[in-house]
Amino acid sequence: MTKVVDAEAIRQAIERLPLFSPNALQLLQVIADPDHELEDVIRIVKFDSVLTMRVLKVVNSPVYGLVNEVTSIDRALSYLGERMVVSIAVQDNAGQLLNKPLEGYLGEQGALWRHDLFSAIASREVARYARGDFDLDLAFTGGLLHDIGKSIFSDFWKEVAQDALSQIDEGMVADYLMAEQDLAGLDHTEVGYRMARHWQMPEALQRVILHHHHPAEAPDWVQPLVYAVHLGDIVSMMAGCDTGSDGLQYHLDTGYREFFNLSPNALAEIVLNAQEEFSRARESLTN
Ligand SMILES: [Fe+2]
Ligand SMILES: [Fe+2]
Repeated sequence: MTKVVDAEAIRQAIERLPLFSPNALQLLQVIADPDHELEDVIRIVKFDSVLTMRVLKVVNSPVYGLVNEVTSIDRALSYLGERMVVSIAVQDNAGQLLNKPLEGYLGEQGALWRHDLFSAIASREVARYARGDFDLDLAFTGGLLHDIGKSIFSDFWKEVAQDALSQIDEGMVADYLMAEQDLAGLDHTEVGYRMARHWQMPEALQRVILHHHHPAEAPDWVQPLVYAVHLGDIVSMMAGCDTGSDGLQYHLDTGYREFFNLSPNALAEIVLNAQEEFSRARESLTN
């Protein structure tokens, strides 16, 4: 079958993407370093006046109901956690991409941001059940970026999106990712991976983006993280927070059991906790 998506045009669209600000990139690098401390994040925020203002605005959002206004970054960070700073930085640097309507997935404006934010929170909740040590904020960050490739892929995909659904309905392909591969010759994970490389993101995040639907293919050193996001993504879709027509059209790789001790009760708890945090985070970030 001839490929209907112009891979060269996708490559050019990625090349044209503006880079992340040096501070935002540094923040992602710090988060990806397992030995980092909260102090390192605080230092980056304090160095960046725009980020400082945004963080203070979020922590003083009525959603959190704090009685006294928070004016220090140290206090704001200990209250919000590193993950909210990451959310703000990603929103500031990739907000336009994350808020585009996803026509190729029949997703309305904001659907990608909602799905990524919910997946981020759910991935972090999953990571709390890890059998070994786990960096929860890195799981969150991976979840937040995992589907970034859809923002560009969607534009090239909209002509054939219907064919993908028919392929799945007719059982010609096993899941949505295979439909993308079959019709386009590449899929949203590869596009996202190339975007992350263009942005020079830490390798762990590049790997999460590339392997999130096939975590077993990730290198060993990053597999637990990729599995956390793989599950967080599915939980997000199960909770109805998908990006449109591809919702729940992917396989669950049960290999996660090697890394996480998840009973059915734990899964229910993850969904509940994620829903609660999601509504707060979403509101505080939009105000
Ligand atoms: Fe995906
Ligand atoms: Fe996803």
